[in-house]
This record gives sequence, structure tokens and C-alpha cells, in this order.
Amino acid sequence: MTELLLAGSKTMSHPAPLLSATANPASKSGVAALTLDRVSVDFGKRTVISTMDFEVRPGEFLCLVGPSGCGKTTLLRLLAGLMTPTTGEVRFYGERISEPSLERAIVFQDYGRALLPWRTVSGNIALAFEALGVPVAQREAKIEELLKTTGLSHARDRFPNQLSGGMQQRVQIARCLAQRPKLMLMDEPFGALDAITRQHLQDEVVKLTREHGTTVVFITHDLEEAIYLGDRVIVLGANPGRILEEVEVGICHPRSQLTTREDPRFLAHRHHLHGLLEGH
Ligand SMILES: Nc1ncnc2c1ncn2[C@@H]1O[C@H](COP(=O)(O)OP(=O)(O)OP(=O)(O)O)[C@@H](O)[C@H]1O
Ligand SMILES: [Mg+2]
Repeated sequence: MTELLLAGSKTMSHPAPLLSATANPASKSGVAALTLDRVSVDFGKRTVISTMDFEVRPGEFLCLVGPSGCGKTTLLRLLAGLMTPTTGEVRFYGERISEPSLERAIVFQDYGRALLPWRTVSGNIALAFEALGVPVAQREAKIEELLKTTGLSHARDRFPNQLSGGMQQRVQIARCLAQRPKLMLMDEPFGALDAITRQHLQDEVVKLTREHGTTVVFITHDLEEAIYLGDRVIVLGANPGRILEEVEVGICHPRSQLTTREDPRFLAHRHHLHGLLEGH
């Protein structure tokens, strides 16, 4: 159960991320963090993902947008190792993904099923430290820090059924951050949050993942969120799921909720992506 919740059961086999906070996270040199090599997924006779090819650079923040049912969650499940493609191959630092790993954390779209109901907020976050073998004496301070980051300090001893949807989602995010993964897979993680909490967590996730050189694949329906967070945005079309376009955002970090969203490049991307999705 714990392993499934954390989407991982293997011990760490890759070295720690090489990129520092100041390094260019979108470096094009060396092996890709993720490679999708002619990947297709069929459910019965229906092709849900059709011959998809793309790479994700180490430390890159990649956003995926697309209409409901175009295969975004299916894609994330492939990247997590929770399923394998019908044809083609998915690779993580050059190695075929065939099962979950603690190095690849997933924030599930369905947060209601992502927490252990018999554990408190801090107990659910502690799962990650238990799986990683972090000594008990070191856990408390780390949990406190994550509770603060996600605005949950006041709820540390509550159980999941005593939390709002947005709070449950924040527990799941805290647990994934605790895992210090090389890859964060996030499936519409901020959908249940109010606007202010959402903006705060957007900035925290970017800050923390950049500091640790974490590669992120982030799914959202919200075009502005995708442009604000992403180094690159991949736009997917449906029936079957396929890539319509890839857009390099090209706006440097740190970004600001006010000024970045008013940047002419931001507005141009928004206009362009909106037009692309409207036509599909
Ligand atoms: N296990 C499954 N068996 C059969 N069909 C499935 C299965 N999982 C997903 N599908 C179908 O595959 C398609 C893509 O589903 P997926 O959940 O990946 O879409 P999505 O892009 O994440 O949608 P949303 O934005 O609504 O979350 C859908 O038509 C869905 O009904
Ligand atoms: Mg989905």
C-alpha cells in the first residue's frame, strides 16, 4: 500500500541530481531525463495514445495541456512505471521504465485515494521518510518544514477525512516533496485549491524543484498555469492522444505572479495556445 501510494518500491539507484540552484535547468547536454520513443497505448481496440515521441531534459519543468480524455493521466502513469506502453518504450536516464521507483514521485489527480485514512497529516508525510529510511530523529524537523511550506502546520494531527479537498491535496504534495525525487509527476495538482493558495504553491513547487534540480512533468487544464510554471509546454490533442505542438516558454526565472503574467511573451503564448486548443 505504502509503495503504491509513493509510486515506488525500489531503492535509489541513480546519483543525486547534478544541477544546482544556479545551473541552467534546461541544459540540452547529456542524456535526457525522460525519453518517449514511439509510444502508443491501446485500451482494447481503442488507441488512446498514438506514436508519441518527446524528451524531457534533466531539471526541466515540462507542462502538458490538452482536452479531457486526451491521455494525460495515462501518460503520467507510463512515466511513473505504473503501466507499460502497448508499443514503444519509455526511458528514465536511458533505462527502460518497467516498474515504479522512489526516484519518480507522483501527485495523483484523485487526491481522495492518495492518503492513508488511518494516518494523520504528519503520519502521511512521514511515509516518505520511512520508505527512504530517514532516521526517526531527523524526521520531525523535516515534517515541520514541509507543513509550513504547504500551509498545513495547524492541521498536522488531523486525519484525511477531517480535511478539505485542497488540504488533502497539499498533504499529498508535501509527501512527494519529502521523497526528494529526481522526477516529480504532477497530475492537475492545484485544481482543488483557492486562487491564493494555488499561486503560493505554484511558486513553492518551482522554487523547491529548481533548488534540488528536480525534473517535473506537470499536467494542467489551465493554460496560464502551464506558461507560468513551464520551461516548455506540450499541447496534446485527443482521439487519439498526440502532440499538437511544443512551445519553449523562454521567460527567465525567478518569475512573478504579477509581472510575468503581464509580460508580452506570456500573453503571446497564451493567445497562441488558446487558439491551438480551441481548434481541437
Ligand atoms: N484502464 C482503462 N481502460 C480503458 N480505458 C481507459 C483506461 N484508462 C483510461 N482510459 C481511457 O483513456 C482515455 C484517456 O484517459 P486519461 O485518464 O489518460 O485522460 P486525461 O487526459 O487524463 O483526462 P482528464 O483531463 O479528464 O483527466 C479516456 O478516454 C479514458 O476513458
Ligand atoms: Mg487525467
